[in-house]
Amino acid sequence: MVGSEHVTMVPSPPGQRWAADVNGQPVEVLAPSNAVLLDVLRDKVGTLGVKRGCDLGTCGCCAVMVDGKPVLSCLTLAGQVEGASITTVEGLSDGAHLAPIQTCFATHGGSQCGFCTPGFLISSQALLDSNPNPSRDEIAEAIEGNLCRCTGYQQIIDAVEAAAALHRGETEAPAPASSPHPDPHPSGPGEPTMPPGHAK
Ligand code: FES
Ligand code: FES
Repeated sequence: MVGSEHVTMVPSPPGQRWAADVNGQPVEVLAPSNAVLLDVLRDKVGTLGVKRGCDLGTCGCCAVMVDGKPVLSCLTLAGQVEGASITTVEGLSDGAHLAPIQTCFATHGGSQCGFCTPGFLISSQALLDSNPNPSRDEIAEAIEGNLCRCTGYQQIIDAVEAAAALHRGETEAPAPASSPHPDPHPSGPGEPTMPPGHAK
């Protein structure tokens, strides 16, 4: 009879203990043995600053640091980094104050849609941790795996240069090297009025 057939569900692997140090805190959660790090961080640990963009390793939105090295969490099995020290964008600041890289992204216009920004911040901080005085070419190379879909990269490079200067203990960050970027979303005609329940 139509509708009475039992549909066999694909069984999910059993949850098992997964432990790591996330943003300086020991965490222990239950996760399937084949869980992807991105899912564990977002769904189990609650670090929602880690963004899911493409899920294919092409956009960089999901970047986190594992033992100081930037990795794409969408392409990393949680089991591969069991016990590691993981830093997400939430771990860059001390909680009360933005990290220099975050401040410089804000002041130089490098912080844009908020979706790509966490990945850019992680890639940039990982660069500064290993190279305190990167050239603009080295900065561009460090962020080449991070895609912005709607604007340019010059302010981001400016921001990383400025953050490098702050990290080196210079009192003032260098002035932005590139000219101001035009507003990518200039005001246009009014937004269409959507009926209730259809607002995006
Ligand atoms: S979501 Fe991981 S690279 Fe795009
Ligand atoms: S500003 Fe983030 S994708 Fe364009």
